[in-house]
Amino acid sequence: MLKDRLAIVGGASMGIGYGIARTLAGEGAKVAISARREPALREAADRIKADTGAEVLPIQADCRRAEDCKRLVETAVSALGGLDILVNNDGAPPLGDILTFDDAAWHNAIEQNFMYVVRMVREAAPHMRARHGGGIVNISALSALQPFAGFALSVASWGGVIGYAKTLSIELAPFGINVNTICPGYIDTTRLEKVFSAGGSDSEKMRAELTSQIPMGRIGSVDDVAALVALLVSARGNYITGTTIQVDGGLLRHVR
Ligand SMILES: NC(=O)c1ccc[n+]([C@@H]2O[C@H](COP(=O)([O-])OP(=O)(O)OC[C@H]3O[C@@H](n4cnc5c(N)ncnc54)[C@H](OP(=O)(O)O)[C@@H]3O)[C@@H](O)[C@H]2O)c1
Repeated sequence: MLKDRLAIVGGASMGIGYGIARTLAGEGAKVAISARREPALREAADRIKADTGAEVLPIQADCRRAEDCKRLVETAVSALGGLDILVNNDGAPPLGDILTFDDAAWHNAIEQNFMYVVRMVREAAPHMRARHGGGIVNISALSALQPFAGFALSVASWGGVIGYAKTLSIELAPFGINVNTICPGYIDTTRLEKVFSAGGSDSEKMRAELTSQIPMGRIGSVDDVAALVALLVSARGNYITGTTIQVDGGLLRHVR
């Protein structure tokens, strides 16, 4: 479905980003992956190559740094020969009581969640326009649609991403580029495990409690998210744009 399409996937040494990169590579795309820690990133690239036979290029980068975003896009475009697909994904700001966050914490959250997307798109979109089409997907979180206590830094900064992405979808539609934001519910990754055991909680008990609230009766997998990304960035998904879609096993309970 994605044969020879050229992609950048952020935060892809593990977790959701890794699952997305592996799926896109499995569909035939050539993929540049990024993360901060180089050894884990290189190992991830080797594993994806071994699993899929695809060309996978590891590029170390910290998404909170403007110069890293620029270098990431430039290196990927020059090595792959262009760009069709951009998946913005990374870690997330810390959890905590909303009133305890100082200006530095808010600033860091905006850099990580919001300015990362703005900078990557600013660098990447001209290359996608030059190839007359493409797909951009942002990975956000269900908490951006249904906030939880403790998640203020993420919820507030992702709110900006959702508004930005909607506007971007309108401006890039004439060039055949679709833009969508995915809000995962609970997805089995090391990050989720950390959330389960935060503050010394009993991780297994918390997992069972949260699973019981999910209509599908299970925590999601990285492949559940990756499958939607693969559709959205394919020719079949190109008419879907400007959406904010949850992948949550039915956890979100409201009608829009
Ligand atoms: N798992 C869930 O249940 C869930 C649910 C909703 C939303 N999400 C969101 O989905 C995203 C991915 O979550 P995940 O569970 O896959 O996390 P994860 O397993 O912790 O993986 C995060 C990935 O992002 C990289 N990363 C983190 N900070 C970075 C930075 N500043 N610059 C570049 N790369 C960075 C990490 O590598 P390095 O540390 O080496 O940089 C790693 O490859 C997060 O934004 C998370 O909030 C997750």
